Amino acid sequence: MIRAAAPGDLEAIRAIYAHYVEHTVITFDFDPPSLEEWGERLAAAGERGHPWLVAERDGAVAGYAYAAPFRAKPAYAQTVETTIYLSHEATGHGLGRALYGALLDALIAQELHLAVAGMTLPNPASQRLHRALGFEPVGTFAQVGFKHGAWRDVEFLQRRL
Ligand SMILES: CC(C)(COP(=O)(O)OP(=O)(O)OC[C@H]1O[C@@H](n2cnc3c(N)ncnc32)[C@H](O)[C@@H]1OP(=O)(O)O)[C@@H](O)C(=O)NCCC(=O)NCCS
Repeated sequence: MIRAAAPGDLEAIRAIYAHYVEHTVITFDFDPPSLEEWGERLAAAGERGHPWLVAERDGAVAGYAYAAPFRAKPAYAQTVETTIYLSHEATGHGLGRALYGALLDALIAQELHLAVAGMTLPNPASQRLHRALGFEPVGTFAQVGFKHGAWRDVEFLQRRL
């Protein structure tokens, strides 16, 4: 089931993301955000009217996806940066495609104009998911971040909504 995120989902969201912060270079965070920080992010998304969805599997939150401002200056207002994370146990079974598709549908319904996504390379699942849902590559920042002992490249993609 895919539905809007609620404050009661934040502990699951915190735990899903903390795994990737600690064990991967998929995100450039070094320290997992606290529950309080997640609460502030969800509230801010609500105030902006940006969608934040969760996917439930067997009654538990197995992933989340949301849109946030791409950049702060006002001419960017119709462009959002999209993000998706599934529990590492829930990947590879089509859930990402369903959840991210629902997020894009919500953005289209809001008449937003462009979705932008960035991903540390390599990330075959994310690279494939974005292309499968109509994102086109914009370019790659080479060695733009340093994590877990090495320089990391980040590819950006965009999708007209
Ligand atoms: C990226 C992510 C959201 C994809 O969701 P998923 O449920 O695993 O992917 P799906 O099963 O829906 O598959 C989506 C597409 O990617 C492909 N894919 C999935 N896993 C793959 C893998 N490991 N290698 C290559 N392709 C893969 C699928 O074949 C499918 O493509 P298709 O529709 O053309 O057949 C999920 O793997 C995830 O949360 N990963 C960790 C966090 C992350 O990387 N987030 C994105 C940050 S940019």
